Amino acid sequence: MQTTETRRWRLKGPEMEGPIARWYARVRGSKSQLEGYRNQAAQLTAGLADGARVLEVAAGPGYLSIEMARLRRFDVTALDISHTFVEIGSDSARQQGVSVDFQQGDVAKIPFEADSFDLIVCQAAFKNFTLPRTALAEMHRVLRTGGTAAIQDMSQPAERLHDEGDAGEASQPRVLPASVRASRRGESFPDM
Ligand SMILES: C[S@@+](CC[C@H](N)C(=O)[O-])C[C@H]1O[C@@H](n2cnc3c(N)ncnc32)[C@H](O)[C@@H]1O
Repeated sequence: MQTTETRRWRLKGPEMEGPIARWYARVRGSKSQLEGYRNQAAQLTAGLADGARVLEVAAGPGYLSIEMARLRRFDVTALDISHTFVEIGSDSARQQGVSVDFQQGDVAKIPFEADSFDLIVCQAAFKNFTLPRTALAEMHRVLRTGGTAAIQDMSQPAERLHDEGDAGEASQPRVLPASVRASRRGESFPDM
């Protein structure tokens, strides 16, 4: 995988806060999309032992994290740089009686110890990261040996989300099923 560190968001910042975050949470939270998150949660966690630690980075409103936690087999943490998303995700998890530890933080400086997680998931966000190489290195650092990182991205630029004020569900970018899935075995992810 070719990754370059880019500063293209320097002036604007990659985070989605306030009304943009609330709009995003609304358009990604339709019944059919929530069903999709439920299916993905089952697929991504298949084979994980009970009690495994799962981290979703750039979790946004946290729909996927909530569905993984709803399985009640894992210890789920969701990290996002946006304070609004952390608030939205924490509120929805609490309202649904599901336990997810939502934390605010930057994927380029993940606020957890090395070798902490059995599964790391990153959906529809990697192409927006200002420091993609650092993000990968950080995900590798906090992943346990033998753990898996699944990085899934979108079929069209995520920037469009900012431009489409009242876009309907049909025009939403799709999350590709398996962009990158890598196990931690050595000093860095393979082929990166
Ligand atoms: C298009 S949204 C995707 C959200 C969610 N993963 C989903 O599938 O709906 C991109 C997310 O990446 C987050 N993000 C961008 N840069 C980040 C960074 N450096 N660290 C953590 N989160 C970041 C944004 O705040 C936003 O929640």
